[in-house]
Amino acid sequence: MLNESNNIKVENIDQFLKELKAYWVANEIPNVSEVNARFLRDLVKIKWAKNLLEVWTANGYSTINFAIEIEKNNWKITTIEFSPDSVAKAKANFEAVWLDYIIDQRCWNALDILPTLTEKYDFIFIKKKKKRYKDFFILTWDKLESGWVMILDDVIKFKHKMESFYEYLDEIKITYNLLPIDSDDWVIMIIKD
Ligand SMILES: C[S@@+](CC[C@H](N)C(=O)[O-])C[C@H]1O[C@@H](n2cnc3c(N)ncnc32)[C@H](O)[C@@H]1O
Repeated sequence: MLNESNNIKVENIDQFLKELKAYWVANEIPNVSEVNARFLRDLVKIKWAKNLLEVWTANGYSTINFAIEIEKNNWKITTIEFSPDSVAKAKANFEAVWLDYIIDQRCWNALDILPTLTEKYDFIFIKKKKKRYKDFFILTWDKLESGWVMILDDVIKFKHKMESFYEYLDEIKITYNLLPIDSDDWVIMIIKD
């Protein structure tokens, strides 16, 4: 079983992720699905992504999936979360799998911190708060390197909550792919020209 305090160091990260996922499913934390996590991890792998920005960490399940591949590329992840409790839990999880040294955790409201980030990223992942997808897209789009990838999760089931985002993409003529990665919901993948 996953140690509640997370005060452990684990060798087998995939097993740790399975237990982390099971624990949070039981506690209704909306992490990415295992199928989606696999897809995201493979995408990072084949693109050789190096500098990844994640808008919303929660317990760090998706972050660890990214970090497994990002570590091989010798680079880093910046991940934003405004709940101090979630930030602390994610930190313990990152330490448990020895990946904390490549993960820059920012305990902030993403709406406030995103305008202050000056770096460019080659992979941006956004999940949750469908009504704000347009805002988060606008706040991050200029931070994405040309030729690189932005993924937004859960984009069909709650499409009615994000009409303004779809309209905005059409308005500024951004081409996007809708991908049915798992049976629960789809993702949008945008490759920046
Ligand atoms: C769906 S969870 C993230 C799941 C995570 N990416 C994963 O798949 O493992 C959404 C998280 O966003 C955080 N959150 C919501 N609005 C936020 C904001 N404006 N700034 C920072 N964090 C926010 C919530 O506290 C919650 O932990």
